[in-house]
Amino acid sequence: MDKILILDFGGQTCQLIGRRIREAGVYAEIIHGDCELNDDILTKEVKGVILSGSPNSVYEKDSPKPDKKVYSLDIPVLGICYGLQIITHENGGKVAPLEKKEYGRSAIDFTIPDSPLIQNIPDKFISWMSHGDSLDKLAPGFELVAMSEHKLPAIVENRERNIWGLQFHPEVTHCEHGNDILANFALNICGAEKSWSMDRYIEEESAKLNKQVGDNKVLLLISGGVDSTVAGGLLLKCLKPDNVFLMYIDTGMMRKNETEKVSENLKKLGAKNLLIIDARHRFLGPLQGVTDPEAKRKIIGDTFIHVQEEEVAKHIEGDYFLAQGTLYTDLIESGKGVGNKAGVIKSHHNVGTPLVEQKRKEGKIVEPLDMLYKDEVRKLGLLLGIEEKIVYRHPFPGPGLGIRIPGEVTEERCDILREADAIYIEELHKRGLYSQIWQAFAVLLPVRSVGVAGDARDYGYVLALRAVVSHDGMTADVFDFPTKDLLEISSAITNKVKEIGRVVYDISSKPPSTIEWE
Ligand code: XMP
Repeated sequence: MDKILILDFGGQTCQLIGRRIREAGVYAEIIHGDCELNDDILTKEVKGVILSGSPNSVYEKDSPKPDKKVYSLDIPVLGICYGLQIITHENGGKVAPLEKKEYGRSAIDFTIPDSPLIQNIPDKFISWMSHGDSLDKLAPGFELVAMSEHKLPAIVENRERNIWGLQFHPEVTHCEHGNDILANFALNICGAEKSWSMDRYIEEESAKLNKQVGDNKVLLLISGGVDSTVAGGLLLKCLKPDNVFLMYIDTGMMRKNETEKVSENLKKLGAKNLLIIDARHRFLGPLQGVTDPEAKRKIIGDTFIHVQEEEVAKHIEGDYFLAQGTLYTDLIESGKGVGNKAGVIKSHHNVGTPLVEQKRKEGKIVEPLDMLYKDEVRKLGLLLGIEEKIVYRHPFPGPGLGIRIPGEVTEERCDILREADAIYIEELHKRGLYSQIWQAFAVLLPVRSVGVAGDARDYGYVLALRAVVSHDGMTADVFDFPTKDLLEISSAITNKVKEIGRVVYDISSKPPSTIEWE
């Protein structure tokens, strides 16, 4: 499959470049900016290379630099922001700091309107700039295609050497026609074939999985979340279902009806070996009397490892592969990039477990989603026939409700929280609010407050509602909840869950708070 290689120099929007190229129908892969461009990396499939932005300045001593080979390839090269500056700096041009940095919207004016990079783009558009350095002198052989409204070089080209450059960031949504410019590069200049689609992904992944796993058994731990469910669906579609073992461990800290829903969904996807492990007491027992958040997490994590090992030994005979729902972003965030996945870990369940480490050493880890971004996983899920409600579900942490019950976690508290959380989420769906929110959940506080129930005074639990908007969970803003909905949801909860006497709304953003309470 044709692909565009992106050299990552640490720019914040590097991943977005990959997304946009893929949206244009071409597979894009991100690698470290200073990777040696050897034959394993520069395969025939690579039709073009993009040099990303960076927080560095090219004239700093330790600024990241590409393998010099990149300047003499016989495929097109595009530099974006720092990428353009490093091309200029290393090819006889000059880059210098600006007195006044150029940030945000900047109108672009063409000087060479027939440049292939800007075909079918209006001759005036608004770009998105973010640079403190600029091209003082173009490198020999390069021509100015466009200027910014601050009269700074915005687009350059060297048609003879097939090297192109953009000072602005076409990948960010604020940049008008940014997608079109990247599509011009990938499709017209590089001539890459539009072959990236989820149907194609299933075909290719199927071939890969069959080659790797063949007739062996594969085990996947299912958490009920989107990634593991989609990974399960894909394994069932591509391999013999008799060889696919899906293990779900009920920790007692799952959401309402989670276990039933997970079983039902996986059966619909053709699961034959569904191992639903009721480990509620194995988790809740050791948690008795424990209130320290770190101690709780450790108990949950350790118990997971024990239960997993015990159950695998009980249910799976002989050797097997271990599948994980690792996403492309997990690989990039862990700093691994192409071809080097050692130590990449996905869910809290599998972090550093002896089983994962052993399987990785043996080369028996299967990661069928490792080329996909989260929204691509969702698309794939829909194609595999997984319900929209699951595919668009909010994230749920590995330790489950255990970190949403500050203080001691007991079965009774889990039951109360499960009920209240289910009402909250159902109300969000009914009101059309669920899809506007990145993550919503309830937290059961270990305090009682006074209330009146009928004619009697009562002491009920306090429930905190949380709803945040975010792109990636790294930072988050409080969801601007319509007051009417909030009031009605509060009443719905206190009317139906008698143990809860008071409902509050958490109005803390991240930072300084985290999304979860523990
Ligand atoms: P925080 O609370 O750190 O959470 O702002 C950011 C995102 O990560 C999720 N989260 C976890 N996910 N295991 C997980 O799989 C965990 O231990 C864990 N802790 C937090 C959280 O729900 C949010 O989406």
